[in-house]
Amino acid sequence: MTMKLNKKRALITGGAQGIGFAIAETFCREGALVYIADINAEIGSAAQSELVAGGGSASFVELDVSNDSDWSRVCSQITEKDGTIDILVNNAGINIRKSIEEMSADELDMMYQVNIKGPFLGIKNVLPIMKNSGGGSIINMSSVCGLIGHKYTPEAYTTAKGALTTLTKAVASRYGEFNVRCNSINPSTANTAMVQTMLKDPVWREQRLGEVPLGRMASLQDIAEAALYLASDEASFINGVALPVDGGVTAY
Ligand SMILES: NC(=O)c1ccc[n+]([C@@H]2O[C@H](COP(=O)([O-])OP(=O)(O)OC[C@H]3O[C@@H](n4cnc5c(N)ncnc54)[C@H](O)[C@@H]3O)[C@@H](O)[C@H]2O)c1
Repeated sequence: MTMKLNKKRALITGGAQGIGFAIAETFCREGALVYIADINAEIGSAAQSELVAGGGSASFVELDVSNDSDWSRVCSQITEKDGTIDILVNNAGINIRKSIEEMSADELDMMYQVNIKGPFLGIKNVLPIMKNSGGGSIINMSSVCGLIGHKYTPEAYTTAKGALTTLTKAVASRYGEFNVRCNSINPSTANTAMVQTMLKDPVWREQRLGEVPLGRMASLQDIAEAALYLASDEASFINGVALPVDGGVTAY
C-alpha cells in the first residue's frame, strides 16, 4: 500500500492532544516523520510514546509558538537530524471564552500571541528551509470563526482566526513561486472531551448542533483527513484555500 506522506518531515504544533494529536496519528499512519511541538512537555512526551508504540515515527520537541528563539532552536534541531521540513501544521491555539466586554487587555494579548503571532513566527522560521529544499506545505488551523462572525465565540478568537485565514492567503500568494503551498482548515466545533461535557447542557446543545446542516460536531478525524489531503501531493495545485470542515455551517 502506498503511503501518502512517505518519509515526509512534518512539524505539528499543539500536537500533544486534541486535533493536533489526531493529525499526528494520521500522518504517522501515512509514513511521515512526525515532530510533535508543544508547550506541555508532559503530555507531549506521552503522545510521542503512544505514537511510537503504534509503529509511528514520532518525536516530541518542546516549543512555545509565541517564542521566536524556540522556533529557531526547533527548526535547527529538525533540519540537523532530518535535512528539511516538508510540512508545517500551525495547529496550537487557545480560547479564553469571554466576550469583548469581558476580556482584559492582557487576555487579548495572550490570545493574539498564541493564535496569530505563533503561526506567523512558525511560517517565518520554516519558509527559508522550505524554499531551500524546493517547497513544502503549510497548514494553518483556523476556524469557521476565521470566515464569519459567530455569536457565541469570543471576538478575540474570531479576529485572530480571521487574521490567520488572510495570513494563509498572503503567504500562498507570495511564496507559491517557491513551490510552498499554504492553506487553512476552518473547522466548526469539534467533538472533544470538553464538548462532550458541554453537550449535556440542552441550551448549548441546541446552539451548537442546531447551526450545523449535517447535524453533528466535526470529529477529530474529519479534520485530520483534511490536513492529510492538504499535506499530500494529491493537493499539489491547492494553494491559498480556506477549507471549511464544518458540515455546512458557513454554507448559509
Ligand atoms: N476544538 C474545536 O472545536 C476547534 C474548532 C475549530 C478550530 N479549532 C482550532 O484547532 C486547534 C486545536 O484545537 P484543540 O481543540 O485540539 O485544542 P486543545 O486545547 O485540545 O490542544 C491544544 C494544544 O496546543 C498546545 N498549546 C497551547 N498553547 C501553546 C503554545 N503557546 N505553544 C505550543 N503549544 C501550545 C496545548 O498544550 C495543547 O496540546 C486550535 O488552533 C483551535 O483554535 C478547534
